[in-house]
Amino acid sequence: MKLDILLGLQWGDEGKGKVVDVLTPRYDVIARFQGGPNAGHTLEFNGIKHVLHTIPSGIFHPQKINIIGNGVVIDPVVFQKEINKLEEMGIDPTQNLFISRKAHLILPTHKWIDAMLEIQKGEQNVGTTLKGIGPTYTDKTARSGFRVCDIITPDFLDKFSVIYKKHSDLLIKNGYNPNEDIETAFQTWFDSLQTLLRFKLIDSEYEINRYLKEGKKVLAEGAQGTLLDIDFGSYPFVTSSNTVAAGACTGLGVAPNQTKRVIGIVKAYCTRVGSGPFPTELFDETGEQLRKQGHEFGSTTGRPRRCGWLDLVALKYAIMINGITELVLTKADVMDNFDIVQICTQYQIGDELTNRFPAEITAEIKPVYKKMKGWKQNLSLEKDYQNLPREFKKYVAFIEMDTGVPITIVSTGPDRNETIIRK
Ligand code: GDP
Ligand code: IMO
Ligand code: MG
Repeated sequence: MKLDILLGLQWGDEGKGKVVDVLTPRYDVIARFQGGPNAGHTLEFNGIKHVLHTIPSGIFHPQKINIIGNGVVIDPVVFQKEINKLEEMGIDPTQNLFISRKAHLILPTHKWIDAMLEIQKGEQNVGTTLKGIGPTYTDKTARSGFRVCDIITPDFLDKFSVIYKKHSDLLIKNGYNPNEDIETAFQTWFDSLQTLLRFKLIDSEYEINRYLKEGKKVLAEGAQGTLLDIDFGSYPFVTSSNTVAAGACTGLGVAPNQTKRVIGIVKAYCTRVGSGPFPTELFDETGEQLRKQGHEFGSTTGRPRRCGWLDLVALKYAIMINGITELVLTKADVMDNFDIVQICTQYQIGDELTNRFPAEITAEIKPVYKKMKGWKQNLSLEKDYQNLPREFKKYVAFIEMDTGVPITIVSTGPDRNETIIRK
């Protein structure tokens, strides 16, 4: 059996959590491979809405194993809150959630350094989630990080002191004072480690490879989106991990030749939260309508998401980088009332037309749009793809034709049941 990968193809919030939850019955194991509490993956079923940050989106299926892989960065305080919420709902995740010993830990100081760096960047700030993601991955690559396995070693406090000193020196040097009480923040952090220790800490690379050998089906769940990838995204307005399919290999310890399907989640329009270029962004009434109808406010930070038309130049780039084998189209229902729907098919830069997503996206880039007639019907009422409005099927066919990738699932609402699987 080979690993399937599911990930976002835009700037995050494509609906990954919902789709993973829908697909979980087909799998035995769901494993997160990168990112951390910057993610907010929303699931809805039985009238309950739930947002997950660190825990894989298969957790509501008690028979399925969920793994937090080595590529993830964990804030034990956020993790504890997530666990508490699940336990309040009567779910016992200690039996089917395992954590990689190699995953790195976010300390309170990482969050403060994140805030400090954002202030220093001034108008050029990234608009991070302030969850400490960048500084934690920086420590990982600088070989001074703090891993899950470190908390169970005898010299835990020595290791902790080294990193704490490094961080506090940096904060003091820059004159940064956190908004919270330092002692309380660390006390809360240390206390929360007890929750982490209630879980089975594993060498997830061995376990996942064993599952695959035994014929078990494993799905890798991505966080963020391809355009936020540290290498291929709209740098420097990106996150600090590899969000692309290759990240599933390094973030779980699965070899590239052991991967199979790569499922790309694409929203029927684009959104972005935080700063950075966004060629198809709409500043008008239509943008406002997308935000309102789509409830486009961050699941993690509550910030309003910037909205714009679907961008096929960026989508085809994301499909290429990830080797996408199939697409899942989400949130088209948000445009149910639109008379006209537009899709960006090319970029115009000066007199030139291009299909390429450039290394540097500047204000000079003008999207070229194809206008399509809206479907003016409530998509979420329909369960059979054949019965969907003709204009909507044309919209789907156009994306498939231009990208060369089939759309196998159409999500028509936030609920688990609002999903059309095409035959
Ligand atoms: P993720 O980070 O990719 O998991 O996406 P988020 O959960 O941050 O954002 C997606 C939002 O859209 C959530 O509020 C979902 O409940 C909601 N959602 C997902 N799929 C659909 C859909 O097909 N239609 C509508 N209207 N909402 C959806
Ligand atoms: P999910 O998994 C949308 C954005 C931030 C910021 C940039 C860097 O829910 O799709 P970071 O805190 O990672 O250093 O911030 O990345 N960002 C996301 N945007 N969805 C996410 O996750 C995001 N995670 C980070 O807004 O622009
Ligand atoms: Mg999200």
